Amino acid sequence: MIKLGVNIDHVATIRQARRGREPDPVWAAGIAEMAGADGITVHLREDRRHIQDRDVRILRETVRTRLNLEMGATKEIVAIAVGLQPDMATLVPERRQEITTEGGLDVAGQVRKIRDAVRKLQKVGIAVSLFIDPVAEQVKAAAEAGAEFVEFHTGRYAEARGEAEVEHELGTLYEMAEMGVDLGLRINAGHGISYWNVAPLVRMAGLEEFNIGHSIISRAVLTGLAQAVGDMKKAIREAEQEQGVIG
Ligand code: PXP
Repeated sequence: MIKLGVNIDHVATIRQARRGREPDPVWAAGIAEMAGADGITVHLREDRRHIQDRDVRILRETVRTRLNLEMGATKEIVAIAVGLQPDMATLVPERRQEITTEGGLDVAGQVRKIRDAVRKLQKVGIAVSLFIDPVAEQVKAAAEAGAEFVEFHTGRYAEARGEAEVEHELGTLYEMAEMGVDLGLRINAGHGISYWNVAPLVRMAGLEEFNIGHSIISRAVLTGLAQAVGDMKKAIREAEQEQGVIG
């Protein structure tokens, strides 16, 4: 069965809009797990624009499934990951020069640097995944770098318009997943996956896990809105009654 890793970065993005305490991504992780998430994914960015050090520290304690830390292959973040010991580290591009034309990590252009980071993480027992475009040279480079997993960037597929374009992007993902499996890599997929486009992706060879964030959090905002409005109305009514404001 293909697993679902839920990316909760957007919960932290909403919190950071006010630099306050809510919504707490730690609570979101617990709710996602209780609803059946197989893993929790967070991206600790160098600029800490959403997820904070405090979040990853607490999540390491509270996540009961698996914690997947998305991270740039920088010295600072690799050291944090080594100390934190997430179950998996997914190396993603952090800076412009690390990004290939389509958006994944340019492993082919920096095999040695990536291999060093992979080794440091693996040495302390962290499984490593590389977030790459579905491009042959990147798949080969990921195997060369010694990663156990690749996460295929599904953004181009998600953005494809028209049947021919969609089929083309899907075909590429199918082909590259097969190549990855042949090279001994384990396969994950993520970025831009939604309720509308997820179905055909389940046919990717060897696919073990989806990492999905935006679409799930977007839906949660809408499916949770009626309850949230009702709860606030109730809070106001109760305050009025308790304080004798209405007769
Ligand atoms: N996988 C990786 C490596 C990501 O960086 C992200 C977030 O951009 C996702 C998956 C989730 O993407 P989305 O939020 O579009 O579902």
